Amino acid sequence: MTIEPGDRALFDNAEAILRDNDRGAYTVPTKGLYPFQWNWDSCLTALGQRHFDEARAWTEIETLLAHQWPDGMVPHIVFHAPDDGYFPGPAVWATDRPTPTSGITQPPVLGFVLLRLFAEANDKVLARKRASALLPKADHWHRWFYASRDPAGTGLVAILHPWESGRDNSIDWDEALARVPTDGVAPYQRRDTQHVDAAERPTQGEYDRYLWLVQKFRSLGWDNSKLHDASAFKVVDPGFNAILIRSDEALGELAEMLGDDEIAAAARGRVAKARAAFLQLWSEKDGQFLCYDRVVEKLGASCSVGGLLPLLAGLGDTDRLVDTVHRWRGKVAFGVPSHDPSDPRFEPKRYWRGPCWLVVNHMLADGLARSGRLDAAAEIVADSLGLIRKSGFAEYYDPRDGSALGGRHFTWTAAMVVELLSAGRA
Ligand code: DGY
Repeated sequence: MTIEPGDRALFDNAEAILRDNDRGAYTVPTKGLYPFQWNWDSCLTALGQRHFDEARAWTEIETLLAHQWPDGMVPHIVFHAPDDGYFPGPAVWATDRPTPTSGITQPPVLGFVLLRLFAEANDKVLARKRASALLPKADHWHRWFYASRDPAGTGLVAILHPWESGRDNSIDWDEALARVPTDGVAPYQRRDTQHVDAAERPTQGEYDRYLWLVQKFRSLGWDNSKLHDASAFKVVDPGFNAILIRSDEALGELAEMLGDDEIAAAARGRVAKARAAFLQLWSEKDGQFLCYDRVVEKLGASCSVGGLLPLLAGLGDTDRLVDTVHRWRGKVAFGVPSHDPSDPRFEPKRYWRGPCWLVVNHMLADGLARSGRLDAAAEIVADSLGLIRKSGFAEYYDPRDGSALGGRHFTWTAAMVVELLSAGRA
């Protein structure tokens, strides 16, 4: 790995954050605001860790998968140690797991992370041993998705809670979430707004509905054979499905390299079906993909970065999607905003309703580079490093001026910097 001398300090600062937030066998996203292990945070963190400690990167994933549910689901939070600084904690979820976990999942970036860890490993012996043990667990998770979140066999999976998307308060969910009731939500006290300015976080109305859904699923005993049909919120997110497709392709490749023909064939079968179904999410008018609301059976009217993320899996018309990225970028100082800046609902400081996120930038740039759009990929990487140089390692950034928002000293932002610098794309 060669790091340009000018980038050495940036790399060292990022590595220091990853080490500082390391709790031994898992990494917290940041102290205070998020004191446990989060699913997609952890997987993306491993991408950074591997550049200075490959064994530690494998451990990050192993710890997460040690808490996989018997049905195959990998939960979005693992509550390794008690901490009152976060809400909702284990008592609210009440999932009855040996180590408490939440009861919902998160975007399955695991598959493409595993492939990268394996294919680019320096220690090939270690990588084969660790990847061979993880592959069947990742395959189990993917099978769970299509069995539990696509019971009608459409080829696309639904998220049942905005937290599952990873883009918690995106404008994408506004209409569907408005239909979720709030009656009977037990009194609670938020903790997030004790760490971060409330103007940068989801609203109280959104939290009430997040909690109503948790209570509903809890009342069903977290039985995933019931949750999909019973849920008042059921959305097919193009970003989430594109991540699943890319990860399933990666699992197929990994399985082939490890000599597991059965897993390879199953993954390829899922991908073929999902790719065919995916195009119904395309909006010609908007030049991007849109969410499909499975409760009212229609496409939404919200142009978020979730509809551009299919670039990660080479889905859709790349040139049209790049045009959309450029149109958005023309209205802000840093890309890529998490929502179309010309939408009156755009909020440049509020979490997933406008700010830029480095993990999203990384996935967009990676997909663009794979599709041969090195020019567009390089623009996004330049913006990403520009944000870091201007405002440090924040959770997210205001696209108008690059100012830092949300948590600070942030793990996955640091991991993305290490990954971007190491990939020589900087
Ligand atoms: C939070 O608490 O903000 C998380 O994003 C939910 O997982």
